[in-house]
Amino acid sequence: MNWTKDEAQASNETIRLNPLVDSDADEFLQLYQANRVFLGPWVPTVDDEFFTLAGQTSNLLRMMALREADQAYGYGIRLVENNQLVGRITLSNVVRGAWESATLGYWVSQTSNRRGIATSAVALVLDLAFDVLELHRVQAAVMPYNAGSLRVIEKTGFLYEGYAPYYLRIAGRWQDHNIYSMTREMRQGPHDNSAR
Ligand SMILES: CC(C)(COP(=O)(O)OP(=O)(O)OC[C@H]1O[C@@H](n2cnc3c(N)ncnc32)[C@H](O)[C@@H]1OP(=O)(O)O)[C@@H](O)C(=O)NCCC(=O)NCCS
Repeated sequence: MNWTKDEAQASNETIRLNPLVDSDADEFLQLYQANRVFLGPWVPTVDDEFFTLAGQTSNLLRMMALREADQAYGYGIRLVENNQLVGRITLSNVVRGAWESATLGYWVSQTSNRRGIATSAVALVLDLAFDVLELHRVQAAVMPYNAGSLRVIEKTGFLYEGYAPYYLRIAGRWQDHNIYSMTREMRQGPHDNSAR
């Protein structure tokens, strides 16, 4: 892979991850409007302003600033075949020092579900996380009844760490989550937990 940290992007034969930029505001607005009901149960509650061009522009500008500050790396997920925007994936809460860690979030447009897009996007963002951004650990939190997301995390090889009650405020209430992780070491093979 031939990326520099500032030009970080990744692709395979189906999808491409592009760093979030404010010029994508129009396309994200259309996608969020079309998926507002679909995403509702699975994402933090956002206000009506989010579903306007100004709201999207401000969100994307914020993501660009966080990227510049080495605090979060967000990517639009696009189909290689026609450049269509179909989702978003983000490494947030980047902490350096002794932790070198980030949290993972993602969604794929309802009409593009069940085509392996989220699985591919997570695999690609893990390449970026470890090979480009030089992180050591990526954490995912999934609600225990989010069957699609649980399967994505399982297919991409994350380790189940435990159950976190009242972990994130999703759809307006504090909801329990399963916590999963992937570390640089675990990419080479399953974790040996015989020392437990
Ligand atoms: C969860 C989500 C990201 C899955 O995206 P996707 O692109 O459809 O996922 P994939 O096509 O890579 O599917 C991965 C696996 O999950 C399965 N799957 C996908 N959606 C599913 C669902 N609703 N119920 C059960 N299984 C599902 C697929 O069949 C596939 O399994 P398989 O390979 O064994 O057949 C997407 O439905 C979404 O954005 N949901 C709303 C937001 C969200 O939940 N984000 C994650 C928060 S942790």
